[in-house]
Amino acid sequence: MTQYSVIQEIKDRLDVVSVIGRYVQLKKSGSSYKGLCPFHSEKTPSFHVFPQTNTWKCFGCGAGGDIFTFVEKRENLPFPDVLRMLAREAGVPLEEVRPEVRDARQRLLDIHNAATSFFQSNLLTGPEGERARVYLAHRGVSQEAIEQFQLGFARDGWEHLIHHLKSKGYSLEEIIQAGLAIPRDTGGAYDRFRNRLIIPIRDVQGRVIAFGGRILGEGEPKYLNSPQTPLFDKSRVIFGLDMAKRAIRARDQVVLVEGYMDVISAHQRGFKNVVAAMGTSLTSQQVQLLSRYSRNFVFALDADAAGARATWRGVMIVQETLSERGVLAPTSSGFRTEKRLFADVSIAIMPQGQDPDDVLRQDPEQWRALIENAIPVVDYIIQQTAAQHDLATASGKSQFVAEVLPTLSKIGDAIQRRHYIGRVAALARVREIDVEEALAQFERGERRRSLKRKTPESPIPPEPPPGVVDQPPDNAILGAAEEPPLWMDDGTASPAPEPALPPTPASQPRRIGPEEHLLGLMLLHHDTLWPWLDAELAGLELDPFYVEDFTDPLNRAIFQIVEDYLFDEPEEDLVDFIARLDDAVADHFHLLWHYAQVFEKSKPKYIQEQHLQREVVTGLLRLRLEKIKETLRQLEIALNEAATPEERRELSNSFIELTFARKKLEKSLSRYSQTMHWTHNRRIYVMSSTPPAAPVNDA
Ligand code: UTP
Ligand code: MN
Repeated sequence: MTQYSVIQEIKDRLDVVSVIGRYVQLKKSGSSYKGLCPFHSEKTPSFHVFPQTNTWKCFGCGAGGDIFTFVEKRENLPFPDVLRMLAREAGVPLEEVRPEVRDARQRLLDIHNAATSFFQSNLLTGPEGERARVYLAHRGVSQEAIEQFQLGFARDGWEHLIHHLKSKGYSLEEIIQAGLAIPRDTGGAYDRFRNRLIIPIRDVQGRVIAFGGRILGEGEPKYLNSPQTPLFDKSRVIFGLDMAKRAIRARDQVVLVEGYMDVISAHQRGFKNVVAAMGTSLTSQQVQLLSRYSRNFVFALDADAAGARATWRGVMIVQETLSERGVLAPTSSGFRTEKRLFADVSIAIMPQGQDPDDVLRQDPEQWRALIENAIPVVDYIIQQTAAQHDLATASGKSQFVAEVLPTLSKIGDAIQRRHYIGRVAALARVREIDVEEALAQFERGERRRSLKRKTPESPIPPEPPPGVVDQPPDNAILGAAEEPPLWMDDGTASPAPEPALPPTPASQPRRIGPEEHLLGLMLLHHDTLWPWLDAELAGLELDPFYVEDFTDPLNRAIFQIVEDYLFDEPEEDLVDFIARLDDAVADHFHLLWHYAQVFEKSKPKYIQEQHLQREVVTGLLRLRLEKIKETLRQLEIALNEAATPEERRELSNSFIELTFARKKLEKSLSRYSQTMHWTHNRRIYVMSSTPPAAPVNDA
């Protein structure tokens, strides 16, 4: 189950009234329940719980949210703890890391650390290391690369490492468990890595979790790797990612090569966005990991047949993985999942007989050119397929066309589709219409097949007809909003803070709403936008940007983490900081981050600072306004059901206060309804030429 569906599942199973009822004495009052607010002191009850929406609200102090928010505030616990607590109570299983397991993992990491240092010192000093030093020099590996990749050497002999690790206090059992020693049938054990160059394999955070050992010179097997261990699952590790992730994000491109040595060689020559899968074909977990940093893949592989096969499989995995997760694609009316994928994968073919390391050593500029001129994967597939058939013969033509149809049918973009249909027709020397007909027939067959399988593909919401979302009623408040916010993807205008959505099926990607839109942009530009927004709100005499601006538990968790992070004025990159966190939160972070990137790419003007600033400040004000309006609606109900005059009076006071707050927000919002003008870093707003914002209907 995904994190989102876990949260939804918990909310569905737990009754908000009984959860809160454990902390607050609740009394039924009409359709809701009420009691004394646990978050501020009061004599008459203004704390309300709404079972229909699974939410709660205090009209006195303004606090509100769902069960997660409540427990988080009441118990003063971080989100992962609240999640664990409520999951246990709801009987929803979580993938938990038990403390014993965590300690054992740490122990294994420590062993790897100790082994790394041991191998390193073997390489750098001593007569036996000489052969390895010569080998590396011969291959042109620089001293700097040796250090950065922590290369080492395992001396010849059966128990060098075992002895060393035992002297450091590790038991033989632990050494075997780490995959560093192999048990003998007769008892005892021997070193796995002997007389080999050692290449430490590190996780994204740079911790050594396994080793690859290369034979010095020729021999079999060329590489010996650590076995599967509790730390090391080779299908989930990308070699070099810890060193490459920054460059991958900065260039928004990841270059995949086959070998360890190719990665080392590229980094040493300044090509830092280069990584390798672990020898086998790329797995979908690896693609998911990479897609946190970029979705533009370049496969740089050897020209030989094995290289082509690996490329082919890799491309397919990228395509399947990213389509499963649902790629956020900008459309005229917002974001929706789309099958448009191939555009982001291209292939750089090395010259015959050379691998990336050869090219890099011979001429780094040639490498640069090969990567820059990488061929989009559809062209590559068409080329490769064409080369396998004799296009002069009738059967060759029809086989060629038949084999490229699955590829053509995956191209979502109509213009690109036409382009490639044209190419296929030209290569086979048939009419375009013939290819089109073959494609249509193929797609009809596909649909029939998928119906028969009865496993519906992940639902792709139909595009709303153009114009449906053009003017959400709420934009009246903004005066001249040129376009609806992009998260409005379903034709509904400004969703209420707690939309009564049906439970999300596990496979469906998470919906981007106004909270996520705002938070995504704030994350992507946390260094500039965060301080700006706080100053801006202070100028408007409004509350600072704070956790209560979010109702969703994951959004709240991220807000708090980033706020803490910014407070510490760290040197570490935010993304690295997040990488060390609980997976659920990190995944959500990356989703938001990616969303914001796609948003900006599709709206180039948002790259300009003033547009972004306007977008986040209006986004936030609208979010707050929506919340107030929702509260006013709830207040009205509460007023009708008030039991005593005392209660009525208090609720009326809240009503007046909130109405005042609403007016203030509306006034603030109206100031942004037109272009901001900027001079010398000082903001000057040109007041509206349109009439003042129309009052919004009382709900
Ligand atoms: P290569 O044979 O291309 O290795 O295998 P390479 O890294 O380029 O090494 P050099 O340049 O010959 O020294 C590609 C990758 O496949 C895995 C390793 O991860 C290697 O980097 N592999 C290869 C193994 O795990 N075991 C082997 O025996 C061979
Ligand atoms: Mn090689």
